[in-house]
Amino acid sequence: MRAGLCSLTIFVFMGYNLRAIEISKTYRRDSMKSKMLVPSKELVQDAKAGGYAVGAFNAVNMEAAQAIFAAAEREKSPLIIQVTQTTISYTEPEELAAVIHTLAERTTVPVALHLDHGRSFRLTMRFLKMGFTSVMIDGSLQEDGKTPRSYEENVAVTKKVIEAARSLGVSVEAEIGRLGQIGEDSGIALTDVDEAVKFVEDVKFDGTGIDMLAVAIGTRHGLFKGKPVIRSDRVKELSEALDMPLVMHGGTGVPDEDVRKGIEAGICKVNIDTQIRVAFYDAIRDVVMEKEKEYAAADAAGDPKKYDIRKILAPGRDAMTDAIAEKMRLFGSAGKA
Ligand code: G3H
Ligand code: ZN
Repeated sequence: MRAGLCSLTIFVFMGYNLRAIEISKTYRRDSMKSKMLVPSKELVQDAKAGGYAVGAFNAVNMEAAQAIFAAAEREKSPLIIQVTQTTISYTEPEELAAVIHTLAERTTVPVALHLDHGRSFRLTMRFLKMGFTSVMIDGSLQEDGKTPRSYEENVAVTKKVIEAARSLGVSVEAEIGRLGQIGEDSGIALTDVDEAVKFVEDVKFDGTGIDMLAVAIGTRHGLFKGKPVIRSDRVKELSEALDMPLVMHGGTGVPDEDVRKGIEAGICKVNIDTQIRVAFYDAIRDVVMEKEKEYAAADAAGDPKKYDIRKILAPGRDAMTDAIAEKMRLFGSAGKA
């Protein structure tokens, strides 16, 4: 039933050829076999009721996906695993999605598969075809990820995504206000409460609205320069005015105390990307440095060297798992699955 609606939606909205639709229908039906893949709405609503947040961690490759699932299993934590559209510059997202679906079938915790920062309707539909159970339409910026969209443009594209996603039971996250980006040192504009209330109302399609809202509250993507000023007071105002799960983006580098205050004030989903990549990088750098010494000694002795890259990647994956598990405990989601 769900798969049928999906095909129809894709046909109507994408105008793809029939062969592509058939392939997507089969793929989406198969991907729905995982009992554990749930819409993120269920997870963030539970989090809101329970006063904790669900971590949303970015998977850029197979090792990252494995680390994310391993941490969730270890901590018995509900999970949002997310993929951004920029992944396309590295791999076809369908390939990564296949890995994630396989991991999801084996896990015992509830998992939502989420598109992070979808910037266009067309691209968001591509991820729906892959069996994603949740999408973010980031209408705050144009497709280039830099040029701001007007309020009206943001409303229009968000509404269109809601219209397509709702028939599939896929959750939708939107964004109002603009998050700081890497390299921006000037003050970050916070999400305006009145504008957020209007936005949530304006994007409704036939009574269906968004399931969670990403808000600008002083965080920024990537590593901070200096100490961030996180406005949990603004989170509280937004939460009271909207009564909706709110999302903290740019979770990297936010002090633990600010994360806790944010969650108390109404944050139900925290996005973490850079920090877990740093954990991965630091671990493999150390291994590579050790390997260099080993290889130099082998050269000196005239011995053969083994280039087993698994021995370099595995410690990176383990370090990433530990970093994610620590965040799950901080967010209070550990033990909630
Ligand atoms: O959407 C993803 C994030 O907001 C992650 O930000 O790289 O600063 O952790 P981050
Ligand atoms: Zn983000």
